[in-house]
Amino acid sequence: MNRSIHDELEEIRNQGLFRSTRLISGRQSAKVMLSGREVLLLCSNNYLGLADHPALAEASIRAVERYGTSSGASRLVSGTMELHEQLEQAVASFKRSEAALIFNSGHAANTGIIPALVGRGDVVYSDRLNHASIVDGIRLSGARLFRYSHNDHMQLAGVMERQSGYGRALIVTDGVFSMDGDMAPLVELVALKRKHDALLMVDDAHGCGVMGRGGRGSADLLEVSDGVDIQMGTFGKALGSFGAYAAVSAELRELLLNRSRSFIFSTSLPPVVLAASNAAVELVQSPEGDQLRERLHDNSDLFRKGLKEMGFSVPDGSTQIMPVITGESEVTMRFSEALLEGSVFAQGIRPPTVPSGSARIRFTIMATHQIDDLKRALETIGKVGSRLGVV
Ligand SMILES: Cc1ncc(COP(=O)(O)O)c(C=O)c1O
Repeated sequence: MNRSIHDELEEIRNQGLFRSTRLISGRQSAKVMLSGREVLLLCSNNYLGLADHPALAEASIRAVERYGTSSGASRLVSGTMELHEQLEQAVASFKRSEAALIFNSGHAANTGIIPALVGRGDVVYSDRLNHASIVDGIRLSGARLFRYSHNDHMQLAGVMERQSGYGRALIVTDGVFSMDGDMAPLVELVALKRKHDALLMVDDAHGCGVMGRGGRGSADLLEVSDGVDIQMGTFGKALGSFGAYAAVSAELRELLLNRSRSFIFSTSLPPVVLAASNAAVELVQSPEGDQLRERLHDNSDLFRKGLKEMGFSVPDGSTQIMPVITGESEVTMRFSEALLEGSVFAQGIRPPTVPSGSARIRFTIMATHQIDDLKRALETIGKVGSRLGVV
């Protein structure tokens, strides 16, 4: 007898883990229309507001007029267009890497890159809080996995000291942790990778565009770009577009192009998306990019300070991602619903996205938020938090 789908859905509901989507009409701006009502968006990764920027939209319009709507095939068949090459050159120059390879999404990048680098007989060292797409990539690879406690490079050092006999070793970490907003200890990880002749891969989905010189990312901020073999980043967050890249050496690019199944067996990104990404890479390095980052940092500081002053426990740091840990899924969802009634849209994040018992509201700040709107939102959050006993 087949396991009942109805029963499985009931089980998800009973655990307080049922998910559904919310419909946004219009653009992904700092304020959005949700079910016909304007709410302040505090859960988007559109950190610099580029998803709503005319330069990206105009580049896409020009691209669709000139190149049409689809790439028509995998890059290795007939799908490499001028725009793919232009974007890869732009990324390599942005990241100061020898080469770059474009992937269809961050998830496709991680599930393509990791199994291309390691397999049976190899070993992967992965931070316990790494993004799910990294976990999926490792599972697909078949390599031996050691998960180290979050950001615990001392523990990792001990584990690596005891391992031997593997063909290839890979350390993989988020640059900025997506659900916690803290940064990886890249200086220490680079030292470890050098000591043990391992590869180091950094998923900088949340650092790209927002930190480092010209928005080059977390490795640039910590001045360790030379020590990171694979800098993966996404175009769908601060860069306001869609897709992902691996900034790598020319040799590594060749290996990924030959071995990454998500690259080989999937139709490549279409012209509209590539053109928007190209415009975004240019924009983040411009003086306007610097101004947007400054506003993002100022807004983030104001919001973090406001949350802390009201007594919420928010991790230290300076990134634009601020989780307020509520513990159980049920409280988290009530918190999120009550915020929405006060026109503040911030999603509750539950297991399996975060470890069980650490459900949270994940607030994310945008450069395009207005200070008055953030202050009003903080008031609402304070009231709801004390009503629900979170603070
Ligand atoms: C750290 C991290 N890596 C990878 C991804 C996946 O990227 P994408 O949304 O482009 O598939 C995300 C976001 O969802 C992420 O937060």
